[in-house]
Amino acid sequence: MVTVPPDWYQRQVQSPGREGVQLELLLSVSRERAGTLRGQVEQGLRTAVRDGSLRAGAVLPSTRDLAAQLGVSRKIVVDAYAQLAAEGYLTMRQGARPRVASGALRPVAEGAGPPSTPSLRFDFRPSRPDVSAFPREAWARCLREAVGEINTEDLGYGDPLGVPALRVALADHLGRTRGVVASPGLTVVTNGYLHGLGSICHALRARGARTIAIEHPGNPEQTAIAARAGLTPVRAPVDELGLRVADLPGDVDAVVVTPAHQHPTGVVLAPSRRAELIALLRSRGALAIEDDYDAEYRYDRPAVGALQGLDPEHVVYCGTTSKVLAPALRLGWLVAPPALTAALRALPELGSARVEQLAFARFVERGDLDRHLRRMRLRYRRRRDAMVAALAASLPSAELHGIAAGLHVTVALPGVVDEPALLRVARMRGIGLATLADYGHTSGRPTLILGYSQMTEARITAGVAELATLVG
Ligand SMILES: Cc1ncc(COP(=O)(O)O)c(C=O)c1O
Repeated sequence: MVTVPPDWYQRQVQSPGREGVQLELLLSVSRERAGTLRGQVEQGLRTAVRDGSLRAGAVLPSTRDLAAQLGVSRKIVVDAYAQLAAEGYLTMRQGARPRVASGALRPVAEGAGPPSTPSLRFDFRPSRPDVSAFPREAWARCLREAVGEINTEDLGYGDPLGVPALRVALADHLGRTRGVVASPGLTVVTNGYLHGLGSICHALRARGARTIAIEHPGNPEQTAIAARAGLTPVRAPVDELGLRVADLPGDVDAVVVTPAHQHPTGVVLAPSRRAELIALLRSRGALAIEDDYDAEYRYDRPAVGALQGLDPEHVVYCGTTSKVLAPALRLGWLVAPPALTAALRALPELGSARVEQLAFARFVERGDLDRHLRRMRLRYRRRRDAMVAALAASLPSAELHGIAAGLHVTVALPGVVDEPALLRVARMRGIGLATLADYGHTSGRPTLILGYSQMTEARITAGVAELATLVG
């Protein structure tokens, strides 16, 4: 039973009210309308509670604040609240703001809500960094500085291509670490690689492009993104030397490629194929879109410079914080030729959170990114070693690829394995992983894609041993 505290009414009418946050409520009353002012307040609130726009537990303005907002005497609101409490719509507690009572509501359709994260005992899902190592303190310091330093221009919409300080920091960083030929004017900040890819596809389509080749196997989301932009996506096959340039269709306008570490096979694009690709781009006036998603992680081989460095006029370079820091940041970048940069500027969907951009600029400038990468490279190398050793012990006849770099290995299994069934059983046992079929590749040897970035060496060893029992 909902009640009003015994002295609530008296106190409301007598007390001067407390200073505090004034809550607004979408409600209006008028002396021109039928009914008393009190009746209008009551009816407005009843309707809002019934139709679900005021949810159970929602806080309402104090009687003083609502009276001031509506331009009526406080007594009118006090009487209306008391009546609604008596009817079970509101609950009142002394010293607290009124709330909508539970149980007075029509059930409102809930959205699906975020998908629940599966609880995994062993998480071999690829393409994820170890976010438990996110440099919270350094990031918090950079964010604090950014909030203090951001100027009025950048607090507005600013340049849609990004905050100038970050474009300068990225151009320097990418030139130094990846051999990218970058100037701040051609460096564009995005909400991550996939957003950057979508923007590039829209800009290309606006310039008349029709066909885009996408590495196969590859991240399946890319095909949908290209198609949504009005391009026709076609498959670009990959072998042990990387993209098979000679097999690209004759009319291709753009090619999406992962030269440093093909995703997901782990192959490095061979020097001969790089040269072949650049020659093809030049002869057709086509563009390569280089996804340099995890090139920072290499263990047993020297860094492979960015393809973009070979021909900045025919390659758009793309990078992301999703593998080096955390996907949650939704921060990426691209370096584009001048004509494409101009076309990108004209897109309405460009632009991302500018305080975070400035924070990331500070993070790069002061060496926090280099420091973090050095630390993570060591950590991932140990985990990679544990993964290779565990596979040698538990699945000795499996063939490993792509172990020299990145955050996952590909594991070609001997014999016949029903990949979807294996995934289902693994999931039931709390083991998360991917197979080549998840990237559109359904022929050839069954192949697991095992990420090693998210577990300690001991967990990797235990997980691989359990996984091996399922593979048979
Ligand atoms: C091949 C590849 N590139 C890039 C990304 C990162 O995309 P984003 O920056 O949109 O998170 C992913 C994400 O999993 C990926 O698999």
